[in-house]
Amino acid sequence: MSGPLAVLIGPMGAGKTRVGKRVARALGAPFTDTDKVIVAAHGPIAEIFDTHGEPHFRALERDVVAEALHGTGVVSLGGGAVLDAASRRALAGLPVVYLHVSAEAVASRLGDGKRPLVRGGVGDWERIYDARRPIYEELAAVTFDTSRLPYDRIAQDVVTWI
Ligand code: S3P
Repeated sequence: MSGPLAVLIGPMGAGKTRVGKRVARALGAPFTDTDKVIVAAHGPIAEIFDTHGEPHFRALERDVVAEALHGTGVVSLGGGAVLDAASRRALAGLPVVYLHVSAEAVASRLGDGKRPLVRGGVGDWERIYDARRPIYEELAAVTFDTSRLPYDRIAQDVVTWI
């Protein structure tokens, strides 16, 4: 079968990149992180938001997601990629892995300054996650909670699921 082996979705700080990397390594498969692709081509995400605004970032993201979902291996999407209807349609039927994390657990993961939407802290994160949660749930083929277990363990569970 062609297409991605797994596509990781979920809120900021859920561990999509960390888990995705480990799953790809375990499978000997390529790993694509859509945020990283955008940064490599256009510079830091916070700068894109500040200079050009969120709609511009979302347009870049839509194209990168479309290409990534046509590829192979393991793909991690930025937390807001599922806001785009075309991206949601492209995810239909794919092995979509939803990583959940609690507000308590995410608080210590958001401090790197790389995420412009949560500059106000975990309160911003909760508001955004509450709004998106139904979308993640609808797209998910399987869900894992990364709040308490190490990333290696979550990755093992994802590999087993695949
Ligand atoms: C965003 C999530 C970020 C990044 C951008 C916007 C979002 O990716 O794409 O800061 O809207 O949830 P991560 O989910 O990898 O942090």
